[in-house]
Amino acid sequence: MWWGIAAWPVDDFIQSNDFTGKTVIPFCTSASSGLGESGTLLAEMAGTGDWLEGQRFSSAVSEADVQSWLDGLDL
Ligand SMILES: Cc1cc2nc3c(=O)[nH]c(=O)nc-3n(C[C@H](O)[C@H](O)[C@H](O)COP(=O)(O)O)c2cc1C
Repeated sequence: MWWGIAAWPVDDFIQSNDFTGKTVIPFCTSASSGLGESGTLLAEMAGTGDWLEGQRFSSAVSEADVQSWLDGLDL
């Protein structure tokens, strides 16, 4: 997260890809900010894809915690 939204280098990734037919679950790290509107803004920018509620982790999150979240998504 940068200044309360997705770090802007992410914008290039969003704009360079077609998410048609894909489920997208944004996730991020931040010092303290929550996701806020960042997921909604990315979904609007993408214009394609089925965007689900995202997840924020602290910047010191462990790989195991991220893996645990992924496992719990039951994808
Ligand atoms: C330009 C910039 C803006 C940032 N803005 C926020 C912010 O608004 N809220 C927040 O919680 N963290 C903010 N951060 C902290 C980053 O989210 C944090 O650096 C990132 O999660 C990676 O963690 P790390 O630096 O410990 O590796 C910002 C960092 C940078 C470089």
